[in-house]
Amino acid sequence: MCIIFMQMENRSYKSLISFKDAQASSDVYAPLVEAMSAYKANPCVGFHIPGHNRGKGVLKNFSSLVGEDALNLDTTDEFDNLGTLFPSSGAIDEAQKLASSIFGSKRTFFLTGGSTIANLALAFGLTCPQDKIIIGRNCHRSVLSGMIISGANPSWLMPKKLDNWAIYGALDPVDLREQLEKNPDTSLVWVTNPTYEGVVSDIEAIARVCHEFDVALIVDEAHGCLWNFSDVLPKPALKCGADAVVHSLHKTGGSMTQSSMLHISKNSRFDVHKVEHALKLLHTTSPSLLLLTSLDAARAYLSSDTGKAAIENAIDNALYFREEASKIKGVRVLNSMNNVAFDVTKIFLKVDGLSGKRLESILELDFSIEIESASDEGILILSNIGNTQGEFDVLLNALRKISISNYPDLAYLEGIKFMPLTAPKVVMTPREAYFSKKERIKKEDAIGRIAAEVIALCPPGISVLLPGELIAAEHMPYLSDFSEIDVLVK
Ligand SMILES: Cc1ncc(COP(=O)(O)O)c(C=O)c1O
Repeated sequence: MCIIFMQMENRSYKSLISFKDAQASSDVYAPLVEAMSAYKANPCVGFHIPGHNRGKGVLKNFSSLVGEDALNLDTTDEFDNLGTLFPSSGAIDEAQKLASSIFGSKRTFFLTGGSTIANLALAFGLTCPQDKIIIGRNCHRSVLSGMIISGANPSWLMPKKLDNWAIYGALDPVDLREQLEKNPDTSLVWVTNPTYEGVVSDIEAIARVCHEFDVALIVDEAHGCLWNFSDVLPKPALKCGADAVVHSLHKTGGSMTQSSMLHISKNSRFDVHKVEHALKLLHTTSPSLLLLTSLDAARAYLSSDTGKAAIENAIDNALYFREEASKIKGVRVLNSMNNVAFDVTKIFLKVDGLSGKRLESILELDFSIEIESASDEGILILSNIGNTQGEFDVLLNALRKISISNYPDLAYLEGIKFMPLTAPKVVMTPREAYFSKKERIKKEDAIGRIAAEVIALCPPGISVLLPGELIAAEHMPYLSDFSEIDVLVK
């Protein structure tokens, strides 16, 4: 233990004094990866959590399944001189600083509870009961949970509807301006960009409007963490004037599932300490070092030459696939002809005669192809840094076969299901409704009552109804999976 400690002390000290040099060559330097390598190479006799003690106390079949190294490296902060997350120290601190430098933030937090924990902490730390907040209605449910925790009073910015695709499009800065003019006491604007299907809003214009009204801007850029590393991709929100930005590095950035980053921008109006305090209250006190290390590795990889080449490759594969897929009879790909700005690596397509759900099941059952998601209308395919062009050829061949196979699909005839995009009728805040007395009633009897639960269609998890909103006849088609729902007692 002592030997390791001394070695790690030296390494850590050297790393800190050479932090500036490390920034210059941050493409190869990954302090947490190094610290974990030293931890692996210098095992000590451990009497601490996790109790399996480097994999010795687990089912053999499990350790064979995941590999001995996975359990050997499954540890948490505070031990073996790997650093701590809250407060930030040691190799974890260095790794966060390098990420902050690469993403261009004032402060970057590593998180092991996904972007969900980032959204919860932003709501909890930065908003108070009854604060007026404008939120893009296509936000993730974690933003809504944040509203329930904080008691803030959201009003909704409705995205444009892409009629032929049955998906939400961009948020309009003009609509935002109108809403801010009507509600000058708004304290915060919170938008999601890109949409799940890759449609991009003009965040620079949105930030300009926010700044004009002296209102802070949070951008949930969960699906856009690669943008920082390629000029071909949309401009990242940290460079567009956002005050805080959320990145699910685990979604497209190559880190492990559940690992995310929360950035506070250089000129942010937010108090970093308030955010950190909220994170301390909400975040696990036993962060997985494997997940934290995977964030460090992802940052180092994405900023390395090989990582950048992998991103360019993902873009090239996407462009190749888009072109080839558009040549297949009956296949339609959402593209710039549809008057939208989008992230090319997210490919939304539909096939004539098939609903998205049916197409998904055909791809899975008959071709062993797993896509990102499916809706009634189409499917979403991601061109990732881990995909090869050969894999896209497999998908293209499958689509070619499907296009000449006459697969039947009754659901297709039922037509496109849009989520209701009329402004919700808000009767009370989500928190007030959440903590009010509720009853469960038949869906048919719910019209005219106030919703007491979040009803969101997954994917992409966008809300049809929120606690505190009036239920109307237009919501009924979207409640087909429910026979009963929670409403407030009259
Ligand atoms: C826009 C958006 N924000 C936040 C989240 C939550 O992210 P995580 O799964 O990393 O907790 C998601 C998840 O899908 C999302 O789509």
